[in-house]
Amino acid sequence: MKPFVDFYRHNGISPVSQDISDRQRHSDRREALYRHLGLVPAWLVGRRVIEFGPGSGYNALYTLSLGPAKLVLVDGNPFGLKAARTLLGPEEGAARVEYIEEMVEEFERQERYDLVLCEGTIPFQLDPPAFLRRVAGHAGAGGVVVTTCVDGVSMLAETLRRLLATLLTSPEQTVAEKLAVLMPVFSPHLATLKGMSRPHEDWILDQLVQPLVGRLLSIDDAIAALDSGFDVHGASPHFFTDWRWYKDIHGSQRAYNDAARGAYYRNLHNLLDYRFVGDPRPVDENRRLLALGDEIFYLVQRYANEGRDQRILDAVQSRLSDLVRICRAAVPRTAEAFDDFQRVLRAYRATGRLATFEAFSACFGRGQQYLSFIHRA
Ligand SMILES: C[S@@+](CC[C@H](N)C(=O)[O-])C[C@H]1O[C@@H](n2cnc3c(N)ncnc32)[C@H](O)[C@@H]1O
Repeated sequence: MKPFVDFYRHNGISPVSQDISDRQRHSDRREALYRHLGLVPAWLVGRRVIEFGPGSGYNALYTLSLGPAKLVLVDGNPFGLKAARTLLGPEEGAARVEYIEEMVEEFERQERYDLVLCEGTIPFQLDPPAFLRRVAGHAGAGGVVVTTCVDGVSMLAETLRRLLATLLTSPEQTVAEKLAVLMPVFSPHLATLKGMSRPHEDWILDQLVQPLVGRLLSIDDAIAALDSGFDVHGASPHFFTDWRWYKDIHGSQRAYNDAARGAYYRNLHNLLDYRFVGDPRPVDENRRLLALGDEIFYLVQRYANEGRDQRILDAVQSRLSDLVRICRAAVPRTAEAFDDFQRVLRAYRATGRLATFEAFSACFGRGQQYLSFIHRA
């Protein structure tokens, strides 16, 4: 099974639209992301840009507005590319956009690019580090590569919603039938997110209904995948600072990737719940958090994909209790939210009835994080 593409093609959808009724707000958001990634908008003027997995082209809209010399969009889903053509067609510079319907794994070109973008596409591939290396290989020397990362900690709240969505629906139901069951349960949760720019239906289809067959890609995994040829440049959220005197940064002392990795592990607990930011914590404790979060993700994946074995649910509940013990000190209100989830899950397993969520409703992880890399010349 091809992650994303099979589900989208089979259902004739590209569930990645965004609310752009306020174009200025959309541009401000994209600019904020680019700034976090160390991409100065004016730098894009006259650049060669390629985006892998652009979906319906909402993000490309902003990139195009910055005046690149060319913008190549490569996606395996014809429904996404068709929507992108419709969206970008009337824009200034539309003639500089090239649309290529092809799988990333098969796309070959001699040309190298100044900026390579790949958002929301690499985590959950079957082999995300290999996929990332392939995408990054299209960057020229000194070029920038942007990827997203997702780990079991940043994904935990969504993993738990996914588990519940699996319990509430059956594999025989159509996508529309599943949506009808899940919208009333999860739409109130999404309504608590003030920055939400996607239709709730799209989010539920993409995050909860779409089967996830592939693997996570943490920030550490992404850095390790590109370590031999790329340096981390920026991140969103902007979680690392570098207090070294710039004159000490040269030759073997450059170590940009080590600095970013250290900051990731010290701040990992801050990915659990987007509402809170706490002080850095001991790396060992955060590594334990990551191990438990990842384990829960893969247990839920097995439960959904390989038959609904009650022992897997027992294991999820046990790992979640261990994880909550760690996060009670680090992020107490998030621990309360996970207690609330456990209450609802236990009641559902005992009675088959869904209780009303309380503290968990507003708990969302930081989902995907972005990293930018510079290709060492
Ligand atoms: C979750 S969507 C993300 C869309 C957009 N980048 C965003 O962030 O909103 C993933 C996109 O990548 C495309 N995609 C996933 N795997 C692919 C592959 N192996 N080759 C080509 N396109 C792929 C899908 O068709 C889809 O348009």
